[in-house]
Amino acid sequence: MQTTIQQTQFAEDVNTGLSASHKYLNSKYFYDTHGSIIFQKIMHMPEYYLTDCELEIFEKQASGIYEAFRVDHQPFDVVELGAGDGLKTTILLMHIFKKNPKIRYMPIDISNKAVEMITEKLTHEIPGLEVLGKTGDYFEMMEELSRIDKTPKVLLFLGSNIGNFNDGKARSFLGELHAAMNPADKLFIGFDLKKDPRVILDAYNDPHGYTASFNLNLLRRINEELGANFEIMKFRHHEVYDPQTGTAKSYLISLEKQDVRINSLDRVFHFEKWEPVFMEMSQKYDFAMIEKFASGSGFTIEKNFTDSKNYFLNSLWKLK
Ligand SMILES: C[S@@+](CC[C@H](N)C(=O)[O-])C[C@H]1O[C@@H](n2cnc3c(N)ncnc32)[C@H](O)[C@@H]1O
Repeated sequence: MQTTIQQTQFAEDVNTGLSASHKYLNSKYFYDTHGSIIFQKIMHMPEYYLTDCELEIFEKQASGIYEAFRVDHQPFDVVELGAGDGLKTTILLMHIFKKNPKIRYMPIDISNKAVEMITEKLTHEIPGLEVLGKTGDYFEMMEELSRIDKTPKVLLFLGSNIGNFNDGKARSFLGELHAAMNPADKLFIGFDLKKDPRVILDAYNDPHGYTASFNLNLLRRINEELGANFEIMKFRHHEVYDPQTGTAKSYLISLEKQDVRINSLDRVFHFEKWEPVFMEMSQKYDFAMIEKFASGSGFTIEKNFTDSKNYFLNSLWKLK
């Protein structure tokens, strides 16, 4: 049957990734409605220490964080890039809103489901807080951000989302943020720190199988949205962590030699037995790496906040 080739961005990116000599898929597509729900399960499991550690920082150090954000009690906007369900941000916003009800909160997320969930949650949990959610790619929102009125902004980039970018992409992302920021704006960014490799592997290779289903869900999404015939059971999630570089990587491994057709691309992709598809990296950092990142992209670190185990760090940056 002749099919129409839909050149959507999603289809194009899948085509590019699966045509590469080392196959890959872009992890930003993890977050359809189903993926956002699975990610919530990941955040709630005990092995995924990142959520608990960042939550502890917000619960125990909210006053210090607020003082570092703004000392003048003037109105300001909190803009969150890749907000997700806002589990941790809600705790921080509750504290900030009590001290300064003139703030506005602007969550940006590529997942419409995530923006809906966080807007609904905050409307109930912090009555009176002005929430202006936006669905879209934060790379594309950068320019718009600089055009929003000149109210000072604190940009949140939490959960060590930065770790999903390779070094070059992280630097160019920080450069774009720098260009979109005004002198009074600040950036509050989460970094997952290097630690016992077993702790890291347990977080991404969990016994409940949530991370595996999170990765496999992208194949299901390609089936559903691009008319493909991936047989999900013929792929297995595989996680590795290199303690020297601090890089964790997820792959899907093809368990047999197989062909997969993607109708909207009108193409068949071949997978060898044991062939990996690279899905996502999660970089772990040390202090020296973070300092280098900040100064290399035109920022000065104003203050660092860490949890009691020194697993996670939230760093507040201003323009140099
Ligand atoms: C790992 S979750 C983290 C959520 C939240 N920041 C936290 O710390 O719990 C990443 C979130 O970023 C969103 N996201 C990923 N890539 C994005 C992009 N390019 N533009 C906008 N949102 C994106 C996803 O939909 C998801 O909700």
